[in-house]
Amino acid sequence: MKEQLNSLRSSTIDLLNQITDIKVLVDSRSRILGRKGDLTAILRGLKDLPIDERSTFGQLANQIKAELEAEFDLKETRLREELEHSQIMRESFDVTLPGRRFPLGRSHILNRVTQELVDVFAGLGFQLAEGPEVEIDYYNFEALNMPKDHPARDMQDTFYFSDNLLLRTHTSPVQIRTMEKCRPPVRIVCPGKVYRRDADVTHSPMFMQIEGLWVDKDVSFADLKGILYAFTREYFGEKLGLRFRPSFFPFTEPSAEVDIQCVMCGGSGCRTCSFTGWLEILGAGMIDPTLYGFVNYDSEIQSGFAFGLGIERVAMLKYGIPDIRLFYENDVRFLNQF
Ligand code: DAH
Repeated sequence: MKEQLNSLRSSTIDLLNQITDIKVLVDSRSRILGRKGDLTAILRGLKDLPIDERSTFGQLANQIKAELEAEFDLKETRLREELEHSQIMRESFDVTLPGRRFPLGRSHILNRVTQELVDVFAGLGFQLAEGPEVEIDYYNFEALNMPKDHPARDMQDTFYFSDNLLLRTHTSPVQIRTMEKCRPPVRIVCPGKVYRRDADVTHSPMFMQIEGLWVDKDVSFADLKGILYAFTREYFGEKLGLRFRPSFFPFTEPSAEVDIQCVMCGGSGCRTCSFTGWLEILGAGMIDPTLYGFVNYDSEIQSGFAFGLGIERVAMLKYGIPDIRLFYENDVRFLNQF
């Protein structure tokens, strides 16, 4: 029996040295020390021994049992510590790695310029107005004094959903929509996207305009000039001159195309202004009285002016951007500069 106990002891110690898994350890413990375990079986055999041997072997057996239990406890503690350590290592990170950057977003340069323009005109007493980009023929053309077969429509040949429904070609329909809703005086600016079948270095099929409209009693061409000069001074700087060239728009009479002195060369002539010293920036004029008929204003009492300004054009001039397509390519190397 002594041999039996000693060999169980040493085989168990050998086994403990090999175990690396906690589950295996727990199973082995119950197989050896548990109620139906090997050592328990030996202890049961004690009762068949003569009395004097019984106490000697009983002592030895209990001593070995206590020793093995302590060994199992020790091994279990160690295995648990190792497990915990390896989990920490797996979750830990290398503090010397470079951090991950989350690039900050910002508003698009065109939205920024739009906001700047709205702010300047707000300072001159103009309220913000908006209208839909999908427009009906009536607002985009008809009520702006461009009936179905009017030749001025050709220049804005555009994107139609049906005979009556199109992507607006300019922001001018917002003039009609606003006058329909509000009695005079009205003094609004409306920025937004517009669409035409045009594409080259200075034209894009989608672009942006900002429209201005001021209707009241006794509004004159002098007021138009005063507002446009004030705007230019505020937005581009003190010294630039304006030039009003006679033009035609069906919805204004008289009409003008307005040039600004070249912001690149100050008027002495350069590539940007094709060596003329001037850059065209907007169309404008006094509201044609026919329009008042469409919105139930009294053309004997009301007078007013309107203007339409290309936002990309203004942004290109202000920031020296050579190609309109850069605005829409979404290249962050371009967009980050503003
Ligand atoms: N709607 C014109 C265009 O897109 C621009 C324009 C010209 C607007 C004269 C106006 C205006 O309000 O009075 O070409």
